Amino acid sequence: MLQTINGIRMNYSLQGPAGKPVVALLHGFPFSSDMWKDQVLALKGGFRVLCYDLRGMGKSGLGPHPQLMETFVDDLFALLDHLKIKSAALTGLSMGGYVALRAAERDPARFWALALCDTRADADGDQAKIGRAGAIKSIRAGGTKAFAKAMLPKLLAPQTLSLRPEVGRELLKMMGQAKADGMANALAAMAGRSDTHGSLKQYHGPVLAVAGKLDLLAPPSVAQDMAQEARQGRFVEIPGAGHVSNLENPEAFNQALMDFLLLSLPS
Ligand code: MLT
Repeated sequence: MLQTINGIRMNYSLQGPAGKPVVALLHGFPFSSDMWKDQVLALKGGFRVLCYDLRGMGKSGLGPHPQLMETFVDDLFALLDHLKIKSAALTGLSMGGYVALRAAERDPARFWALALCDTRADADGDQAKIGRAGAIKSIRAGGTKAFAKAMLPKLLAPQTLSLRPEVGRELLKMMGQAKADGMANALAAMAGRSDTHGSLKQYHGPVLAVAGKLDLLAPPSVAQDMAQEARQGRFVEIPGAGHVSNLENPEAFNQALMDFLLLSLPS
């Protein structure tokens, strides 16, 4: 459904029985909420499941830019306020994890658990920032389609690319919906995001850190470290998956997420 939230038209869905604990799903860059379809199906019997397209991606509008990571967090808070959701578990993959970590830093009491998937709490180093600038240039020069095609082999495990080509096609379709300005804006926001290790250590709630075994962008060692930093952390490696572990191995991902959420339910 499209609704004006924090000054943009935002595409979101809220499924599952009213009154059940809320789980909000935040997608990676530059995908859309469609990447969570298997998780929505698995969760919506026992949870109220919220997912939405981050601004500039999927069917959501972009609004005036530039914007920083704070704007993406403001969007999340505005959507939760609009839906009168006082408490949610955040599940964020990659860029969605950056938004989740900063949201939990700003208002930890609002989130009963954090599932951090194929993501990291570090801010970008200089090389990564320079890489973001190069990515913006290549989007401007070659367009979003060429950029997305070049990104695919870094996102998916070799076996996903060869044995499940439909996963690549789904991702390309989602990336095809993102606006060029939306991608450029998100890249700049990611380059400018803050380090969230301090607040990860302070966060009192349960934390799940998940990574695809073959994730090149946020490898399992990064997730393992985040789980160790958290007060109540657990780490799960997803076999046969790269950076988009929820799409590449939905069975193992769903099992890990469901086990975690059921163990973490607010009392
Ligand atoms: C993502 O999947 O959201 C991106 O890989 C995040 C990033 O570029 O840091």
